[in-house]
Amino acid sequence: PLPYWPEFSEVLFTTVNNWDQIQKFKAKDDDLLICTYPKSGTTWTQEIVDMIEQNGDVEKCQRSVIHLRHPFIECDWHIIVTDGYDNLCKINIFSIYYTHFPKIIYVARNAKDCMVSYYHFQRMSQTLPEPGTWEEYFENFMNGKVSCGPWYDHVKGWWKAKDKHQILFLFYEDMKEVSEELRGTNLDEMILDKIVQETSFEKMKENPMINRSTVPKTIMDQSISPFMRKGIVGDWKNHFTVAQNEKFNNDYKKKMEGTSLTFRMEI
Ligand SMILES: *[C@@H]1O[C@H](CO)[C@@H](O)[C@H](O)[C@H]1NC(C)=O
Repeated sequence: PLPYWPEFSEVLFTTVNNWDQIQKFKAKDDDLLICTYPKSGTTWTQEIVDMIEQNGDVEKCQRSVIHLRHPFIECDWHIIVTDGYDNLCKINIFSIYYTHFPKIIYVARNAKDCMVSYYHFQRMSQTLPEPGTWEEYFENFMNGKVSCGPWYDHVKGWWKAKDKHQILFLFYEDMKEVSEELRGTNLDEMILDKIVQETSFEKMKENPMINRSTVPKTIMDQSISPFMRKGIVGDWKNHFTVAQNEKFNNDYKKKMEGTSLTFRMEI
């Protein structure tokens, strides 16, 4: 049976009402937090982590849709689901995924691809504001006028935090490269091989536990743009004009001044 999906207004309502509690969240010793700016590889990392934790057992990773296996901490959905394993279990946002990995995995994706991906996501998301034209969105993203605020502050903040806390800082572009190198090679490690296969973009796009096909159209209208759209590095080149690229680069230089954080815009 498919999990019950709350109406967005309901989600908002409980999140706002429980904000104090959400802010007071304290991780347990064996909790793992996956943190990202939107559209930077969240779903991908969730599936990889779950596959590792389940020792490459595909069936176990099918126990529920991904956004319920690893709930979002900032969305207080007390969702009642029947997931086929437990008759009835209450998924509580505060019982986060636990494992023996580093405390926090942060995934960062270059700003240009992130912007393009976010634009398409916002076009089909029925719960975020209309993104407007690409030209308008381009300006809004640079000005941080998007959900979750400026990309620049997000990545710089986490980059700094990694020196003080136990954070595994990953780049989407590296993950892409590594997964492509590993694919098709004759690995001794059968499990690793399986994880690489199962977490490829093509496979995940056709996995109903991942591709959001159970999310109603009133939340995500995938006829506008699929949730799993392209999953590549460098798609920004199909969107940025030469003038936009120049403008972006100048602005980027200013906003990213003083940080040692560097991104690859292509691989
Ligand atoms: C999700 O996966 C299912 C099963 O493979 C497939 O039928 C469906 O078209 C996919 N949905 C999207 C939006 O890609």
